[in-house]
Amino acid sequence: MRKVFVMTLALVLALASCSFADGVKIGAGIYRFNDAFMLRFRNAMTAESEKLGATIEIADGRDDQNTQDAQIDGFLSGDVNVLIVNLVDRMAAQSVVDKAKSANIPVVFINREPSLEVLNTYDKAYYVGAKAEESGVFSGQLIAEYFKSHPEADKNHDGKLQFILLKGQNGHQDMILRSKHSVETIRDAGIEPVELASAIANWDKLEAMKIMNAFIMSIGPENIEAVIANNDEMALGAIEALKAQDYNTGNPEMYIPVVGVDANASALEAMDRGEMLGTVLNDADNQGIAAVRLAVALAGGKDISAAGYPVTDGKYIWIPYQKVLTSER
Ligand code: GAL
Ligand code: CA
Repeated sequence: MRKVFVMTLALVLALASCSFADGVKIGAGIYRFNDAFMLRFRNAMTAESEKLGATIEIADGRDDQNTQDAQIDGFLSGDVNVLIVNLVDRMAAQSVVDKAKSANIPVVFINREPSLEVLNTYDKAYYVGAKAEESGVFSGQLIAEYFKSHPEADKNHDGKLQFILLKGQNGHQDMILRSKHSVETIRDAGIEPVELASAIANWDKLEAMKIMNAFIMSIGPENIEAVIANNDEMALGAIEALKAQDYNTGNPEMYIPVVGVDANASALEAMDRGEMLGTVLNDADNQGIAAVRLAVALAGGKDISAAGYPVTDGKYIWIPYQKVLTSER
C-alpha cells in the first residue's frame, strides 16, 4: 500500500515537473534585435522556454512597425498558441490587440507599455515590465548622492547641478518617465538641476557619442557637472566622447559623473574601470522569465494569477529595478 502510494507520488511529481508547457508554441516579436538590453531579454525568454519545454520563435522587427505587423500576422495564421510582443511603436498596441483577439490568441506585451485602456479591450492581453518611474528616481538618487558627498562636483560653486540629458526613443515610456523623474528626484533632494542641453539618442551608443561630442565642443567639458542617460548604451557613448577629451580616465580633476540604466555587462565593466558612476538594474532575466511563464499559463487556458507573480490591476506583472553604484561593486 505504502509502496504504491510512494510510486504514484513519484509519477505525479515527475509529470508535474516536466510537461505542463509541452507543445506550447510562443510567437515573439522584438522591436529590434540590435539592442543590448533586448538581447539579454531574448536570451532569458529562450532559456525559460527551453526549461519549461515550450517552443519559442522570435522575430526581429528591425525597428519598423510594418515589419513587425507582418510578423505578427504570420504567427497568428500559423500555429502559435500565444504571442509575446515588444512593440516597435507603442501606439500600435490596439491594432495588435484587435488581431490577437479575433484569432483568440493571448498576448503578453513586454518592455513597451500599452495603455491600460488598450489592455482592457481584451481579457487575454497583459503586460510584463518594469516601472519606468522607478528607474528615473534611482538614477536621480545616484547623481544627487554623489553631488552631496563630493563638494568638488559643483565645479562652478553655484550650489546647482549643471547636467546633460541623453534620451531614448521618442514616445517610449522609459524615455519620458526616466527623463522626468531623474531630474525631479535631484530637485527633491534639495539640489537645483540646471539642464545645459538634452537630446534624443535613441538608446544608441554611437548616436550618443556624436551628440555628446557636439555638446562638449559647444559647452566645454569643464562646465558639465553630470550626464544623465536614459540607458547604459547612451551613457557609454557619452563616456567615449569624454575619454577622447581625457575625461573619466582616472584623473580626479577631470571626471564627470555619468549614470545610465540597464546594468548591461559593458556598463558594469566601465564602472569597474571607474569611468562610469552608476546604473540601475533593469532586470531582463526576471522580466523574460515572467513573460514566458505568463505566456505558458495563458496558452494553457489559465489567467494571469497562474503565472506565479503579484498582479496589478489584473493586467500587469512588475519586476523591480535596483540601484547599482560603482563603490558597491
Ligand atoms: C529600455 C532599455 C533600453 C532599450 C529599450 C528598448 O527599457 O533601458 O536600453 O533596450 O528598453 O525598448
Ligand atoms: Ca554647479
